[in-house]
Amino acid sequence: MTAYLHGFIPEEQQRLMDQAGVLGSLIYPRIDFSGCKKLLEVGSGVGAQTEVLLRLFPDLEITCVDYSQSQIERAKQNLAFAGDRVSFACQDATKLDLDEKFDSVFICWALEHIPDAYKVLQTIKPYLLPKAKLWFTEVFNSSFYFNPPLPALTKFYAAYNEFQRSLGGNPDIGANLGNLLFQAGYEEIELFHEGFHLDQRQPEDLLKITRYWQELMKSAASGMIEADLITKADTSAMENDLDRIAKDENAVFFYHFVQVSASV
Ligand SMILES: C[S@@+](CC[C@H](N)C(=O)[O-])C[C@H]1O[C@@H](n2cnc3c(N)ncnc32)[C@H](O)[C@@H]1O
Repeated sequence: MTAYLHGFIPEEQQRLMDQAGVLGSLIYPRIDFSGCKKLLEVGSGVGAQTEVLLRLFPDLEITCVDYSQSQIERAKQNLAFAGDRVSFACQDATKLDLDEKFDSVFICWALEHIPDAYKVLQTIKPYLLPKAKLWFTEVFNSSFYFNPPLPALTKFYAAYNEFQRSLGGNPDIGANLGNLLFQAGYEEIELFHEGFHLDQRQPEDLLKITRYWQELMKSAASGMIEADLITKADTSAMENDLDRIAKDENAVFFYHFVQVSASV
């Protein structure tokens, strides 16, 4: 198993559950699996998105795939309410070995971590029924803009993205999803942008998202310190900078992720 940006400690597992709540209103309005019965979720983590999907689409049965046994164990606890609507496979997404076919696929914040995301797209294809629906949601970290200029946040964010690249991930994979799906032979590919463009017109949202961002950044801090990319003091300075954005009268916090729908 390759090293993973956020790690698998219980605090990180809880962060994934909180993240699904904070971002849910942005992720789900477009996603449509109506009419689908069997969904494959790749990189399902602790089941944070699975829980939302199960509630939004009551006819779906979901197979969760993650390469971390500890994520799968936590997902089993989080999704116990769903009984046999959910099943689990602890597998690497680039080497899937499944025993059924699916009419839908969901991936969220996972391809960004996989060194060969194209291989994942090829690997899932034989497991798809004709006209299967795919919905992916992925990061586009180069889209991040904030005001006022804050050096500690700029430094930490650059190191965060460098760390992800050093682990074989791609912090801008969202922007590349169209090409990746096209090259892997998928059809009906449509791209959408979603995210935040916050300022002091929405102070509560600004505070909520800067706090969310602090937790996101901190989730990689111990690995970044071990890799000598930052120090503990850099982490505190980054947190202080995000507090300053929330309070600044000219605050701007802009970030867009990318969603794609496709079919086979
Ligand atoms: C940021 S988490 C997202 C989890 C979930 N999709 C969500 O949005 O809450 C990424 C997940 O991808 C998994 N992952 C990373 N590389 C993988 C691979 N090659 N195969 C399967 N799972 C992988 C990690 O273990 C982690 O649980």
